[in-house]
Amino acid sequence: MTTLSRYNELKTYVSDRKEPFDEFISMLEYETSWLTSPASTRFHLSEEGGLLKHSVGVTEHLLKFRQEFAPAISEESCVIVGLFHDIGKVGMPGTPLYLPNDKEWEVRKGIRYRYNPEVVPMGLALRSLYLVTKYLPLSSAEAQAIAYHDGQYIDENRIVAHREEPLTLLLHWADYWTAHVYEERRVLGGDSNYYQLQRIAS
Ligand SMILES: [Fe+2]
Ligand SMILES: [Fe+2]
Repeated sequence: MTTLSRYNELKTYVSDRKEPFDEFISMLEYETSWLTSPASTRFHLSEEGGLLKHSVGVTEHLLKFRQEFAPAISEESCVIVGLFHDIGKVGMPGTPLYLPNDKEWEVRKGIRYRYNPEVVPMGLALRSLYLVTKYLPLSSAEAQAIAYHDGQYIDENRIVAHREEPLTLLLHWADYWTAHVYEERRVLGGDSNYYQLQRIAS
């Protein structure tokens, strides 16, 4: 299954907030770089469509964790925080955060994109929350999960240390698992689910 077809399936998991969700999605698809943006300038999924691939991968893992550990959390919540935790990486409507790097020598070193100086700087998680809440009403737990999804890797996130909602912990774990195990193709001893997920993201 391609990333795009799985993404289209995941959209159908949202029912309670379908109307504002659809509005947000169509704004993202038509006015931002959501479908084409890389996930980073030089690290994980620094390629066209990398952000969507990462976001779908995180949502897949989050849904698996939910099923195993927290079935009381809705699938809708998981899809919203999974797909949109890094949505700040699109920049703003009409102003993408990542631009193709025009410095040939940097591209040769693997730095394929550069930051757009026209985008007002702010933390990525904060921009994600800012964009989402313009369109979607979020629960406090969903807002905390998006805002603090990097966990204690970020000093400013200390304010929620030991006070994370279950959704925040699961999103953090799904995000780091996706970026550092699954996207890096680290082999886990032939676990069949792992290889199935690999196919979904390719
Ligand atoms: Fe992130
Ligand atoms: Fe992420």
